[in-house]
Amino acid sequence: MTIFSVQSTIFTRASVSILSSNGLKRFSFASSSSFSSNALHSSPLPKTKKRRFPIVSAVDIGGVTIARNEVVRDDDPTNNVPDSIFSKLGMQLHRRDKHPIGILKNAIYDYFDSNYDKQFDKFEDLSPIVTTKQNFDDVLVPADHVSRSLNDTYYVDSQTVLRCHTSAHQAELLREGRRRFLVTGDVYRRDSIDSTHYPVFHQMEGFCVFSPEHWKESGKDSTLYAAEDLKKCLEGLARHLFGGVEMRWVDTYFPFTEPSFELEIYFKEDWLEVLGCGVTEQRILKQSGLENNVAWAFGLGLERLAMVLFDIPDIRLFWSDDERFTSQFKEGELGVKFKPFSKYPPCYKDISFWISESFTENNFCEVVRGIAGDLVEEVKLIDSFTNKKGMTSHCYRIVFRSMERSLTDEEVNDLQSKVRDEVQRKLNVELR
Ligand code: DAH
Repeated sequence: MTIFSVQSTIFTRASVSILSSNGLKRFSFASSSSFSSNALHSSPLPKTKKRRFPIVSAVDIGGVTIARNEVVRDDDPTNNVPDSIFSKLGMQLHRRDKHPIGILKNAIYDYFDSNYDKQFDKFEDLSPIVTTKQNFDDVLVPADHVSRSLNDTYYVDSQTVLRCHTSAHQAELLREGRRRFLVTGDVYRRDSIDSTHYPVFHQMEGFCVFSPEHWKESGKDSTLYAAEDLKKCLEGLARHLFGGVEMRWVDTYFPFTEPSFELEIYFKEDWLEVLGCGVTEQRILKQSGLENNVAWAFGLGLERLAMVLFDIPDIRLFWSDDERFTSQFKEGELGVKFKPFSKYPPCYKDISFWISESFTENNFCEVVRGIAGDLVEEVKLIDSFTNKKGMTSHCYRIVFRSMERSLTDEEVNDLQSKVRDEVQRKLNVELR
C-alpha cells in the first residue's frame, strides 16, 4: 500500500466523468523501477556471503558522489535501504535520450515548450535523497499518514528518505521564486511485486502559479479558473502523446490539493490511472509568500505511460541492458512498438509460513527482491487462513522468470532455498 495516486492510492474516490473531445471519448494518467553506469565502484563480495549482485560502494548523483555507508546503514534501526535500491540511485533513466523514459520526457517537454513558450523551468537532477520535511511536511502529508511508515517508504535515517514522489520539490522551488516548473526524477516506494510495480520508478511534477490578473480577466473564481486550466493543459498533453484516446477524470484526494483529480486512459480494455493533479492548497502557497495567488500541480508516472505508448509488457524491462531491448528505441521517436524477444519460461515456487504480528507483504517482497533481483516477476498471495489457535498462515506463489535467458532448475531451487532461509531469519515467521 502506498501513498498517493501514482502506483496505488489509499484515498477514496468519488465520481467519474468521461470526457469527449473531437467526437472521441477520452481519458484521465498516474505511475509506478541493475546496475551499471552510475555505479562508481563495485567491490567483490565476501566469499562467505554469496550474492547475485556485486555491492555497489558509491554512486554518482548529478555529479555528487554518495558513498554506500551514507545511505545503507546496518547500524541504524530506522534505515531500510537495501543494496539493490542504493545501486539504482543516480541511474537517471529519464536523462537517456534513447531510452523510452527519456524519449517520453522529451515529448512532454516539447508539449510544454510549444504551448507555453518555454515558460516552464525544467529540473531533472535534483537529488532523490530528501528530508522528511520536503517529502511530507512541506506538502501537508498528515503526521499519521500511512505513507510515512517504514513499510511504505525508504528511510536513510529518521529525518531523511528517498523521495517517494517528485512533489517533494514543490516547496523549495516556490521558495526559490520559481512559478512554472517541471521536475522529473526517480522516486522510491516499498511495494508489492508484479509487472507494473517496481520499487524505483520515474515521475514528472508540473507546477503553475497564477496571479490575480489571470483569473480576474476571466470573471471566474480563482479555484475554478485553475482547475479548468489544469484540465485543459493535461487533456492537451494526453492528445499530444496518444492522439485519439478515451480518457476520464476521477475525483480523488491528495493532501496537497483541493480539488484533486486523477486522469485515467482507456487501454487494453481497462482504465489506467496515469496521473494525479489538483489545485494547490493555499497553505503551500502561503509558506512561500504567495497568498494572493492560485496554482495547479500534477504528478505523472512515466513508466506507466511509457508501457502504454511503447507496448512494454513488464516494468523490469526499463532497467535492462540487453541490446535486444535497448536497440529498439530511437531518440525523438515516441510510440515505436516494442517487439518482445522470446519469452523465457516462468518457474513457480510456493512458500507457506505462519506469520507474526509484524509481518507485512512489502517486507516479504523486499526479501525476495534482495535475493532474486530482477529474476522475480511476481509475488502473489494464493492462500491465507487462521487456525483455531489464532495463528495465520500465508502461502505465496513466487514467479521466477528472466527476461534475457532460461533459468535452470538448480538456479531457481537455490534462489528459493535462500528465500526460505532469509524470511525465517529476517521476518520472524515460521515455515510450514
Ligand atoms: N505526488 C502524487 C503521487 O505521487 C501525484 C500528485 C498529485 C502530484 C497531485 C501533484 C498533485 O503535484 O497536485 O501520487
